[in-house]
Amino acid sequence: MLPFSGIENPYKIGAYSVDTNAKVLQRYRFVHDGLVRLAAGQLPARENWDLKLTLAKHIYEDAEATDELRNRIRELRSSQASLQQAPDAALSLLLEELIHAQNDLELLVGIYEVVRPALLATYQKHMSTTQQIVDQPTIRILRTIVLDLEAQIQWGNEMIASLRAEGEAHEGLDEFKRNLQSLLAAAGGIDGAETKSTELPRRWRSQQTYQLPMKSVRDPKKMGPTTWARTSVPNLPDDAVQQRLVMMMRVRQEEMTAVELIAAVLYAQQNMPWEFYHDLARHLWDEARHSMFGQAALEAAGFDWMHQPQYTSDYDVNVHKIPGVKYTWLSIGIEEGAMKRTGKRAEYEFCRDEAKHPLMTQFQDYDWADEVVHANLGRKWTPELLGEDIEFVRTVAQHELDHFWEEVQNAQQQWMKTQSGA
Ligand SMILES: [Fe+2]
Ligand SMILES: [Fe+2]
Repeated sequence: MLPFSGIENPYKIGAYSVDTNAKVLQRYRFVHDGLVRLAAGQLPARENWDLKLTLAKHIYEDAEATDELRNRIRELRSSQASLQQAPDAALSLLLEELIHAQNDLELLVGIYEVVRPALLATYQKHMSTTQQIVDQPTIRILRTIVLDLEAQIQWGNEMIASLRAEGEAHEGLDEFKRNLQSLLAAAGGIDGAETKSTELPRRWRSQQTYQLPMKSVRDPKKMGPTTWARTSVPNLPDDAVQQRLVMMMRVRQEEMTAVELIAAVLYAQQNMPWEFYHDLARHLWDEARHSMFGQAALEAAGFDWMHQPQYTSDYDVNVHKIPGVKYTWLSIGIEEGAMKRTGKRAEYEFCRDEAKHPLMTQFQDYDWADEVVHANLGRKWTPELLGEDIEFVRTVAQHELDHFWEEVQNAQQQWMKTQSGA
């Protein structure tokens, strides 16, 4: 179709004025932003490995959606301040109840059977009923979000079916789902277009504030126990170069602990600009990808990593620290520290020149690139988090590293003792 740049139905009046459009987009933004935060709060507490990795991916995708919606809302005669507001009490309560999911299946059903299908249906309606010329910039954004939503829902459905097949379903699950559905109905749906209830629902579990776990969780049925010591994998090769390579794969795989640390910061740190949460969503997804680098390399080489003890020190040793100190420890202490000649570059060159392992060489090449970005994120945000300049922050980071290595070395010695005693 040549006229109107291929835009269909150019003469048709649309369903949204500028004001109503801004109003519904605020609600969409609020839900994606809420999903970012609640998934971050839940991630360290969840058991299933594939679920943990996927929460990280979807946190990143929801943060991208939030960012695009915020930009579009500002084009619709809306103030910057309006982007901080909660548009609907029932929608707020929906997200506040959802973060109280008590197991993997509850969280999955809440996100992938209640919230995301409602988002998808709303965006399909929006794209087809809005005036196609005036609202083309919104349509373009929603189309990309719909692509993500379709893939997310499909993944969620498969995961739910798999956990149900393993007998994970329990009695309270239906009640949890019904509660969330009634909250969504009370809000008049995602866009508030359905009849809203004047009888606002009561709090259920959200009477208590959600607490991050004090210890990382790993799947007790499928994985080894959590540990603060670095452990190996069975059938380690005799050759020293090959040993170092396999241990590098294993350290990558265990970066889940960094994912959880950033998730805790993203969830708990209040009152930062949106850009901070957007950056951390990406940082967190990068660490989940690094974890997959290790998983993929170990599996491709035939090593069993899943039944081995799982290193969780990044989260567990730092759990009592305030979010700003947690982020300083990671981004300045560890990640800026890895920019030395002996750090990320050396790992990449080792894989390329000594181990001569093409897959790990490629992984470490990108790992190094990501870590350059992460060290920059540290320099960008830690001074604001601590209210001090970068030199002060670096001293804090050194202090925190000393404490961390002391704890980890103690754990390592304990582990060696149990190994030699066995
Ligand atoms: Fe990493
Ligand atoms: Fe990193």
